Amino acid sequence: MSDAERTGIGVLGAADIAWRRTVPALLRCPRLRLVAVASRTPDKARTFAERFGCEAVTGYERLLEREDIQAVYIPLPNALHEQWADAALRAGKHVLVEKSLTASAAAAADLARTAQERGLAFMENFAFLHHTQHERVRELIADGAIGTPRVLTASFGIPRADGALIRYSRELAGGALRETGCYPVRAAQLFLGADIEVLGARLRYEEADGCDMAGSVLLADGAGVTAQCDFGLDHAYRNTYAVWGSEGRIEVEWAFTPPPDKRPQVCLRRGDHTEQWTLPAADQFLRAVSAFAEACADPAARASHAVDAVRQASLLESVLELAGTPEAPARNRLGRAGTRSTHVPG
Ligand SMILES: NC(=O)c1ccc[n+]([C@@H]2O[C@H](COP(=O)([O-])OP(=O)(O)OC[C@H]3O[C@@H](n4cnc5c(N)ncnc54)[C@H](OP(=O)(O)O)[C@@H]3O)[C@@H](O)[C@H]2O)c1
Repeated sequence: MSDAERTGIGVLGAADIAWRRTVPALLRCPRLRLVAVASRTPDKARTFAERFGCEAVTGYERLLEREDIQAVYIPLPNALHEQWADAALRAGKHVLVEKSLTASAAAAADLARTAQERGLAFMENFAFLHHTQHERVRELIADGAIGTPRVLTASFGIPRADGALIRYSRELAGGALRETGCYPVRAAQLFLGADIEVLGARLRYEEADGCDMAGSVLLADGAGVTAQCDFGLDHAYRNTYAVWGSEGRIEVEWAFTPPPDKRPQVCLRRGDHTEQWTLPAADQFLRAVSAFAEACADPAARASHAVDAVRQASLLESVLELAGTPEAPARNRLGRAGTRSTHVPG
């Protein structure tokens, strides 16, 4: 593919996830051409650009003004996703935005509408969805390996880290729901389908002005299949899901963030019989950015990404409504009991 045929892409923000996972994947995607990275500070932009062989730009607006860039990747703090996705779409760029896009269904729908009106791709970066291991799980379910699915349980929790990371900032819309809980909730959307709703939610706040550090969410589809999602930012590491059916259970370890060289394991338990498969490794970031590149090139490949992003925002919005916050009382018993379990006075 010639340079002219590849989609020129720019990065807004010299973010850790861009450095470690996404930009190395962008460079390996034959349909994309990394043009520039923009940072608020020239030094950061330069360091990033030297590492990845692209141009350094100071200021996000300046990158959006460039005509040699047709698409942008937005790994900014969650609170800035809506603003910069909107600015990028209005500048005529396809948008790949990090999770969590937003917890406002209306905001997500506005962005999806803007993208559609302008004929642009708009995708939330849930890389795990593109790993082949989940296709294997879906095949097993479709083949009747566990009978009729009854319950999904999904957990993603990580240990507390040092430093003033954006994931602990309420102002920047960090918190356990948007940083880790979004994965199990997205897995519920994947396995239970479009027809799901949030039945109950609990979030745990340690400080009145802090962000949520843990949570649980119960969802169900119209047929009563349920999903129990647990997540947190101060937990022993856990990153897994299981689908339990009338005749068996499928378990997936390292479900959401397997490294590209990790060969994932899927386990089927059925009565006394246990079968385990070690599947091929897959680079889910490369597969995710390749799906984005396809959506940039092919209008037919666009619609589902925007629809999924709006539904995910709507589910997160329901979780927040049901769980409440330290200031805003919750609507349900589960949430009301858990709005703030411990308050450490400042
Ligand atoms: N898909 C995944 O697997 C995955 C994994 C981790 C995180 N994420 C998501 O990716 C996004 C970035 O996370 P990260 O951990 O990479 O964050 P990070 O390293 O802190 O990067 C965020 C970047 O945003 C820019 N920024 C703009 N305004 C900021 C402000 N007020 N405070 C701090 N930074 C600001 C900074 O870039 P400049 O200074 O260069 O302008 C900063 O480097 C989040 O939405 C997160 O949820 C996704």
